Amino acid sequence: MVKVGIIGTGWFSGVHAKILSNMQGVQINAICGTSQEKAEKFASSYEDVNSYGNIVEMLDSEKLDAVYVCVPPFAHGEIELELLTREIPFLVEKPLSVDLEVPTRVLSKLNEKSIITSVGYHFRYKDSVSYLKNELENSTTGMATGGWMGSMPTVPWWRNQQTSGGQFIEQTTHLVDLLRYTMGEVEEVYAAYASRALSSQYEGVTVSDVGTVTIKFSNGVIANLSNTCLLPEGDSMVGLDYYTNKGILRLGFNGLEISKKGETSSVKDIVNPYEKESEAFIHAVRTGDTSLILSDYRDAFKTHEVAVAAQVSAEKGQPVRLTK
Ligand SMILES: NC(=O)c1ccc[n+]([C@@H]2O[C@H](COP(=O)([O-])OP(=O)(O)OC[C@H]3O[C@@H](n4cnc5c(N)ncnc54)[C@H](O)[C@@H]3O)[C@@H](O)[C@H]2O)c1
Repeated sequence: MVKVGIIGTGWFSGVHAKILSNMQGVQINAICGTSQEKAEKFASSYEDVNSYGNIVEMLDSEKLDAVYVCVPPFAHGEIELELLTREIPFLVEKPLSVDLEVPTRVLSKLNEKSIITSVGYHFRYKDSVSYLKNELENSTTGMATGGWMGSMPTVPWWRNQQTSGGQFIEQTTHLVDLLRYTMGEVEEVYAAYASRALSSQYEGVTVSDVGTVTIKFSNGVIANLSNTCLLPEGDSMVGLDYYTNKGILRLGFNGLEISKKGETSSVKDIVNPYEKESEAFIHAVRTGDTSLILSDYRDAFKTHEVAVAAQVSAEKGQPVRLTK
């Protein structure tokens, strides 16, 4: 039996807990929140789950094989360092933090040890993305454009730049990661962000509500990712379009549309990527075989570096080169 602990009692802990509780040979043993009461409330939906208001107490009291870390961007650091000290494999939700300070410390400690990690860049596990990657390997991509256009999530930490890192780091990071997964490493980013509506509409909004980022890849591909969180709820557009010498590949939330010389076809997403992500991680914990994990901490760090570079570029009004 793989014994799992979960840190965080919010929406996404619930999504992972539901998947884990339906997996054969997996037992959720413990849940840790910012208070014992919050953890108890979360635990009451599951059988035999102990609740804690402090991670050290949880890790001292339980013998866990793996931990899921589902906390907001600002809350990372102590958790990962503690798990690494105790050599406990972990799956951590994106983004790794609000900036590079914590991930740099975590990566440095991770480099001293060989601990299994996985990061919640779940798009990589989609059927459409695996098809897309294969198609792109057999064509020459000229450029890619994409966007994460939606409304502002209601959790209070999201609207604050200090606690979320802003939309590009918090949300659009999924598209940055997909671009890296399919196009390779990034050389330079140049970003422009602005605040158009939300800061005067709601209290405490310090994140930009529109932004656009030009990205140059080492292989010569140019991409642009734009995002906004000022749309009214119900209006959204999320996707990534690749323009290649064989045609256009259009990745959306539910699948891929392909156009080749005017002939169109599509690939629908059937497998639940979150389930596949957890199966890969739990398989690695059980067997030591990490080959099914498509995003680990080291790789996710590079995606996070690009997203943070975009923030720096927007602040300085200058292009930022990524160090090799
Ligand atoms: N991969 C995806 O598709 C996806 C989807 C949604 C959310 N997420 C990510 O998951 C993370 C959490 O998002 P959410 O929607 O669950 O947020 P949420 O606000 O609903 O929940 C966050 C929880 O973390 C708890 N928390 C904060 N600091 C903590 C600490 N030090 N120790 C223990 N608990 C702590 C909070 O009390 C809260 O219960 C975010 O980084 C978000 O980007 C990923």
